[in-house]
Amino acid sequence: MIILKSPEEIEKIRLSGRLAARTLDFAASLVQPGISTGQIDRQIHDFIRDHGAVPATLGYRGYPASSCISVNEVVVHGIPGPRLVEEGDLVKIDVTTILNGYHGDTTRTFCVGRVSPKARQLAEAAEKSMYLGIAQVRNGARLGDIGAAIQEFAEPLGFSVVRDFVGHGVGREFHEDPSVAHFGQRGRGLRMKTGMVFTVEPMINEGGWMVRTLSDQWTSVTTDGRLSAQFEHTVAVTRDGYDILTLSEPPSALGE
Ligand code: MF3
Ligand code: CO
Ligand code: CO
Repeated sequence: MIILKSPEEIEKIRLSGRLAARTLDFAASLVQPGISTGQIDRQIHDFIRDHGAVPATLGYRGYPASSCISVNEVVVHGIPGPRLVEEGDLVKIDVTTILNGYHGDTTRTFCVGRVSPKARQLAEAAEKSMYLGIAQVRNGARLGDIGAAIQEFAEPLGFSVVRDFVGHGVGREFHEDPSVAHFGQRGRGLRMKTGMVFTVEPMINEGGWMVRTLSDQWTSVTTDGRLSAQFEHTVAVTRDGYDILTLSEPPSALGE
């Protein structure tokens, strides 16, 4: 069941989403060689709490941390811990806040110092593919249009699109309907409707799209051990387009 959001609810999701984005701005300053992912997570926890919100992942289905931090071959759901960040790493940080009862969910890939050209190209492709997917969003378009746009961009570069994890509705619940695949066919799938709010969060792999889950039951890694990158925004469907709800600043502050 898809819960359509009123303009008032969308503003509440935006406030939560803005805090999630600002948490990533803060985290960006911490991602340096020598810090552990656990140390980054503790600071993320305190930042979110200090701003009157709750980290949605903490205790979610038994997940033990306030963020997901996934390094290099880790695709998603990396559990922060003793792993040290090193020069050349791709560090994906996924933050979800709950502010006044509403969720905001966003991810960025950070390049640590000098990274290989291939790693940088992968991170840039993940970000570009997310924005190309988001560009498909408007009342009346189909969810398949999003996945197709992502696939059509990423695959000709020699990269692959992860199948096992999808975007999702966002609101009072962390994961609501619909599921938003990052692969698909134009003109297929559910019709988007004004008031829907969901994430677009493509995971792009350097090699094959296959992933496996480690024995901790969370950490998802590429089966071939090659790199993965991800970006995620929470977006609302509007009559003639989309509204990104996980921006650090309102668009007016960006001089638009
Ligand atoms: N934030 C992730 C997403 O984009 C979900 C993380 S669930 C957790 O949907 F339990 F692993 F934290
Ligand atoms: Co998400
Ligand atoms: Co997320």
